Amino acid sequence: MKEPAEKPQLIVALDVNTLEEVRSLVVQLDDYVDCFKVGSQLFTSCGPAAVRFIEARGKRVFLDLKFHDIPHTVARAVDAACRLHVAIERSMNSCEPQKPRHKGLFMYTLHTSGGVEMLKAAVEAGAKAALEIDVPKPLAIGVTVLTSEQKTDNILPQVLQKAQDARKAGCDGVVASCHEAPFIRREFGPDFIIVTPGIRPAGEDVQDQKRIATPRDAVASGSNFLVIGRPIIKALDPRLATKQILHDIHS
Ligand code: C5P
Repeated sequence: MKEPAEKPQLIVALDVNTLEEVRSLVVQLDDYVDCFKVGSQLFTSCGPAAVRFIEARGKRVFLDLKFHDIPHTVARAVDAACRLHVAIERSMNSCEPQKPRHKGLFMYTLHTSGGVEMLKAAVEAGAKAALEIDVPKPLAIGVTVLTSEQKTDNILPQVLQKAQDARKAGCDGVVASCHEAPFIRREFGPDFIIVTPGIRPAGEDVQDQKRIATPRDAVASGSNFLVIGRPIIKALDPRLATKQILHDIHS
């Protein structure tokens, strides 16, 4: 399954610790956001229950656990991530508010530093599991160089090499900063997915992010998915912050 390259979408990073916070944010942003990111903080705190809640609200899940281990272990982890969907269907409490649900995990991340063999084992495991449980293949996204790392002269060649490894292994795309995204787009073409974190609306606190860009710059850079966490989840009014960011993306 490929997303069209010309339609950038917002993904909200639910970097919180409790299901109450997940519930509050997903409900508040219901009209505006179709996909939420579950990362290591939320998954370590709440596990599959967080994924279950998001799916039950009819939203898509981007599981950002940045798998990085020996090929066999990563393949088994990806297989388990794909099968979370089945486990969730079995355990779904009929009292929970349910909406029409997307079929299966939408997207997950792998660390490209794990090497081509690891990435390939993961991609194959994801495709096999999706086939077995009859859901679309989740998008496998390779993490290149974290956006919290300083911009230096050798970041671009590193990112391009990691993107090359990701593509060679069969990944659908990469996570990279908006500074490298135009080069990736040029080298890897319109179908290669680019996910960009490190987005800050003009004038906002950058926190630990270094290679940042505004939502509008991210769209111009060729990004397909803009991942935004704190500017939305820590905002006094997350709905309003989201509305402003979406306006920036679409204007
Ligand atoms: O709060 P903020 O908008 O900085 O959140 C960015 C999110 O994107 C975090 O969940 C972080 O883990 C994730 N991310 C990142 N840089 C990457 C890959 C993922 O910031 N290269």
